[in-house]
Amino acid sequence: MLEYKDRNRDLLILQHEHDEPNKYLGSPVPPVFMNSIHVFDKLEQFESSEKDGAFVYGRNGNPTVDILERKIASLEHGKYSVAYSSGMAALTAAIMAACKAGDHIICMTEAYSSIRDTVNLFATRFGMSASYITCSDLQELEDTMQDNTALIVLESPASTFLRVVDLEGIANIAHKHGAKTYIDNSWSSPILQKPLDFGIDMVMHSLSKYIGGHSDVIGGVVTTNDKELHHMLLDIIRDQVGGCLGHMEAWLVIRSMRTLEMRVRESERAGIAVAKYLDSHPKVRKVYHTSLPTHPRQDLIQKQQTGHAGLLGVTLDTDDEQTVLKFCNSLEVFRRGAAWGSFGSLVQMPLHHLPIESLGDLLKDRLIVRLACGFEGADNLVADLEQALAKI
Ligand SMILES: Cc1ncc(COP(=O)(O)O)c(C=O)c1O
Repeated sequence: MLEYKDRNRDLLILQHEHDEPNKYLGSPVPPVFMNSIHVFDKLEQFESSEKDGAFVYGRNGNPTVDILERKIASLEHGKYSVAYSSGMAALTAAIMAACKAGDHIICMTEAYSSIRDTVNLFATRFGMSASYITCSDLQELEDTMQDNTALIVLESPASTFLRVVDLEGIANIAHKHGAKTYIDNSWSSPILQKPLDFGIDMVMHSLSKYIGGHSDVIGGVVTTNDKELHHMLLDIIRDQVGGCLGHMEAWLVIRSMRTLEMRVRESERAGIAVAKYLDSHPKVRKVYHTSLPTHPRQDLIQKQQTGHAGLLGVTLDTDDEQTVLKFCNSLEVFRRGAAWGSFGSLVQMPLHHLPIESLGDLLKDRLIVRLACGFEGADNLVADLEQALAKI
């Protein structure tokens, strides 16, 4: 596994960096700036404010949101972060920042379903085109690149099937063709993987997952080292399309981030224990988790990640829908619900309710179960799975 050399640095970023108590009457907790505008003594100051980088209007910038953005940028080894009202708003901004009508997007097949849907929306309604491939085979990727390919959309590890792709290899192919790369890094959080180090151009987090971590915030953020992309993400897309993160949400996320490293590691402990338990259970056909030696891309996991998150996919050894539903409904500690990365463990069947025609190759896995391990403790989670498996 990649050595987590940044731990000490990350812990200081999470606890102190960019908080600047001397600016806020010595408060170690930065205030939530509950204002939508800033006022100026002179009109000349107001008019030159944008050029001077001053805060003017909440959609363009807010001091609390700014602290969050600077913390995330530092954690991701990036220069710039721009926060949005949701992960989906962040993805949409990234596509609009990198692409224009006539461009072609390559999207990983196993990316979160709404991400595939959004790429499809741009392809069908806004004059772009899209190809969906696993992105595992670099030759296939090379063959799929077109003269007008502007963006490759990745999610690695992908949140249900835990597919891991070669970030450096993909970034090299993209750059050779003049295209940009984007990754959804929500599964890893910046603790487990820093994709900019491998040449990826834009890193997105749904703040609603590990970074927010308490099931109380919706938000998203994109980080980049590319000045031109940053200009598009902030000055053009967030300013003109909107979708800015609320100041209260930013404050809640900053508070949550104090414990990000500990939460991710606890989730990792639980995820590894649950994956190991299920992997040897006779009623389980397949477990998808990066900690298992059977994961086909251990080489990339060792190169790219400093650990494992607590979200995994499981296929029970049955093709009977009612049996899988009974298993899910019998769980008591894992509750049925959307999302993941929070304190409470959750179960859902992410493909079960999707329209059959949207699933394509994924149709064969329609009964896959997704388990998100929270902080109830590995023993409690394993015991819960044991009693639910005994009922089917
Ligand atoms: C992997 C992944 N990426 C992105 C999103 C979208 O983020 P948000 O819900 O913050 O818009 C989700 C939502 O569940 C997700 O699971």
